[in-house]
Amino acid sequence: MYQAIGIDLGGTSIKYALVNERGETRFEGKLPSRADESARLVLEQLMRAADEVLSSARKAGIDGDIAGIGIGTPGIVDTDGRRVLGGAENIKGWEQIDIATPLERHTGLAVHAGNDANMMGLGETRYGAGRGCTHVVFLTVGTGIGGAVIIDGHLFSGYGGRGTELGHTPLMADGERCNCGATGCLEHYASTSALVRRFSSLAEQQALKFDRPVDGELITHLYLEGHPLAVACMNEHFYYLGRGIAGFINIFSPQRVVIGGGICEAGPFYLEELRRTVARQVIPDCAVHTEIVRATLGNRAGLTGAASLVFQA
Ligand code: BGC
Repeated sequence: MYQAIGIDLGGTSIKYALVNERGETRFEGKLPSRADESARLVLEQLMRAADEVLSSARKAGIDGDIAGIGIGTPGIVDTDGRRVLGGAENIKGWEQIDIATPLERHTGLAVHAGNDANMMGLGETRYGAGRGCTHVVFLTVGTGIGGAVIIDGHLFSGYGGRGTELGHTPLMADGERCNCGATGCLEHYASTSALVRRFSSLAEQQALKFDRPVDGELITHLYLEGHPLAVACMNEHFYYLGRGIAGFINIFSPQRVVIGGGICEAGPFYLEELRRTVARQVIPDCAVHTEIVRATLGNRAGLTGAASLVFQA
């Protein structure tokens, strides 16, 4: 069976594994992405990730079955799947970057890249929570908000692959400035970074101190304990994200909206609250066929979807 190296580049870490055509993974690993340092260092980390999988595959005697490398990266990727054109403000200098050529030279394997959220959406539709569906909207909620749209079983990413930046849907009129340069984007109000930013600034105003760094995990933990500030900030988060999702349902009327990203793993309450908010905002007739579900592949969604680019090439 063919194998491919699947790599998922995120704002914080790079996840990678060897993936077979059934979406099964081996030799999984994780490295810091060094996204806040430089594009060159990020490229070096991608090479290290590929090297680690290659060396494990070599030891297992299966490196000859590897057909190529698939990479999911934030930003807009050219239609040849080689260059990041822009739109990846969460990674320093990550624009007009050829990611395929240096990796091909380094490994001798063919490289195919795609937008990270598109790869996760593909992975979840082929092997995870969207399996069996032809119409799926996928959202990943993390440092940013990424989106993927599957229509009639195919990834729809706009003309020239430049669309479906669902996280940059304008949510607030006269809102704050987003990393993308526009104002009021869904990502700026409903990402995990937005939640952390809002919680931290209110906590500072109220002189609250915590014995561990403030992140999504701490806030959801405090929310479950009924901490008033965490409850207020989480309710705001559900409200913003729910409005965004309601909009996507009104536009695409998918069979499933699949939600990924670390924060949705905080517990069943997360999706339950989100479903309640969406139900209040959506046009009911647009949502009759829509279920909102949690992604099931976790960290593996992006890398399995990216590897599937190699199998279909
Ligand atoms: C970027 C998207 C990316 C998403 C998730 C957004 O800020 O614009 O291209 O898919 O973050 O990483």
